[in-house]
Order: sequence, then C-alpha cells, then structure tokens
Amino acid sequence: MKEVPAGVGWAEALTSEGDDFGVKPVLDGTVALVTGASSGIGAATAAALAAQGAAVALAARRGDRLEALAASITGQGGTALVLECDITDQQQAATAVQRTVAELGRLDTLVNNAGVMLLGPVAGAPLPEWQQMVQLNVLGLLYCAHAALPHLLRAAEDGPRQVADMVNISSVAGRAARNGNGVYSLTKHGVGAFSESLRQEVARRYVRVSLVEPGATATELATHNRPEVLQAIRSQFGQTMEAGDIADAITYIVTRPRHVAVNEMLIRPTEQER
Ligand SMILES: NC(=O)c1ccc[n+]([C@@H]2O[C@H](COP(=O)([O-])OP(=O)(O)OC[C@H]3O[C@@H](n4cnc5c(N)ncnc54)[C@H](OP(=O)(O)O)[C@@H]3O)[C@@H](O)[C@H]2O)c1
Repeated sequence: MKEVPAGVGWAEALTSEGDDFGVKPVLDGTVALVTGASSGIGAATAAALAAQGAAVALAARRGDRLEALAASITGQGGTALVLECDITDQQQAATAVQRTVAELGRLDTLVNNAGVMLLGPVAGAPLPEWQQMVQLNVLGLLYCAHAALPHLLRAAEDGPRQVADMVNISSVAGRAARNGNGVYSLTKHGVGAFSESLRQEVARRYVRVSLVEPGATATELATHNRPEVLQAIRSQFGQTMEAGDIADAITYIVTRPRHVAVNEMLIRPTEQER
C-alpha cells in the first residue's frame, strides 16, 4: 500500500475517489444497520458510515425519506438498502436484521439509534406517551439487539476487521434524571444498564458495545411533544449540536482498531451546563 502524500490529510485520503493513494476506507467490506435513519442523527450516521466504505441498511417507518437518503448514498458510489419498518414490532425488527444479512451479506455494525422523547410532568401524563417511549427506546432497541447479536458475533470471528460493533444511543438523560423527563430518562438509563451488561458479556468475543449520550442536538426529536411541552423545551433550549456532530462521534467509535473499545461517550454543546 502506498504512503499518503505529505500535505494530504487522512480524512481526505480516505474519502478520495477510488484508490488514488492506495488507502482503503476503514469500513470497506463491512455492513452497518442504522435504525431511525430517516432523519436526524440516524440519517447523518448512515451517510457518515457509507462515506467510510460501509454498505448501509437504513431502517425507519418513513420509506420516502429512506429512499432519498439511499439515492444520495448510491449516487456517491455507496451501497444502501431501504428497510421500511416499525421496530416496536418484534417481527419487523427481526426481519430488518434478516434482510440486512440476506441482501447485504453480513452484519458488522448495528447503530441502535431510533428513539422518541416525550417530556413533561409525570402527574397527568398521557399514558400512550410512556408506552411509546418504552416500546421504542427500550423494546425496539432490545428486539434489534437480540436479532443482530448472532450476526455481530459471527462478524467478529470471520469479518474483514475481526471486530464488530453495537452502538446504542442514549442521552444526557441516561446519566441524570431531571424534573420533567421521568420516563424518557428511565428508558435511557435502561439503555445504559443493558449496554454495560452486554459489553461485559461479549467483550472477549470482540463485539464492542458502546454507549453514546448526546446533549441537545438540532433534529426533529423535540417536535413530537405536546404544544405546551414544546414551548417549555424551546424556552430552555440554548446552543445545540448538529446531527453530524454525533455522527462524527459514532464514526470515531466504530473505526477504532480492533484492540480499542470506546465504551461510553457523553457529548454536549459547549455551553450546555447540565
Ligand atoms: N436530538 C437530541 O437532542 C438528542 C439528545 C440525546 C439523545 N438523542 C437520541 O438520539 C436518537 C435519534 O434521535 P434524533 O435526535 O435524531 O431524532 P429524530 O430526528 O426524531 O429521529 C428519530 C428516528 O427514529 C425513527 N423512529 C421513530 N419511531 C420508530 C419506529 N417505531 N420504528 C423505527 N424507527 C422509528 C424516526 O423515523 P420514522 O419516524 O420515519 O420511523 C427517526 O428516523 C434517539 O434515540 C434520541 O433519544 C437525541
């Protein structure tokens, strides 16, 4: 393999056309499944992993959004598979994983990103909001993890990188509960506990389980709240990060060499205090 010429950054070299410098993108030959890929952090992450050479499976309910993202990825020479599905349905979550393996050949990376954040006081909260958060943030993530794990273990044994990744997206709310985020915080604390337990279980088999805990990030996430809650959220909103900032962090995690596991990453906008 040739040296990268002086003055050419690794990032430029990795994303340069073809084999100009003889440097292969780090995730070349690998397959990543990203849940919640139709907007926000998931869409940015899928694009970022594709730019690193991964074939990407895009899972969410809004198929038109996924088709547009897939067209953009394939237009840049990448490979993308659209999986229109609702991962709160166990069968649909399992089928998304099965189709990824059947149509893209394997599974090296699962980014468990799909989530919903419905805030407000516990007293008088609409129960369907709690049910939706538990069904997606907890059960949806578990269904995907359960279906994907055998494939990740296999990828770590025989894959091009001899390592596989499950990246679970939690939140600052997964570290500290605040007045007004009771059930969202409950679900994200659960994601943290599950991730750490699974990390210990599979560490020696080279499946890295990582937890990412973003602070305020400009996406559609808050817009699903009731108007009165949304108003309260907006009045507290200060500086925000971009979805691409979190995609960068996820890309960093999954491109580490085999012997390095980034277990946990808490990322806030610089001005966010809590
Ligand atoms: N934005 C923030 O400030 C922030 C901070 C901390 C943590 N997070 C976490 O980051 C993750 C991504 O959120 P985001 O900020 O990027 O928000 P977003 O733009 O609202 O993205 C949420 C994604 O989840 C998908 N989704 C929702 N219900 C689904 C279902 N039943 N089945 C499959 N996919 C479903 C949505 O797609 P469809 O509607 O098309 O299904 C969408 O692609 C979430 O886990 C969130 O808790 C975000």
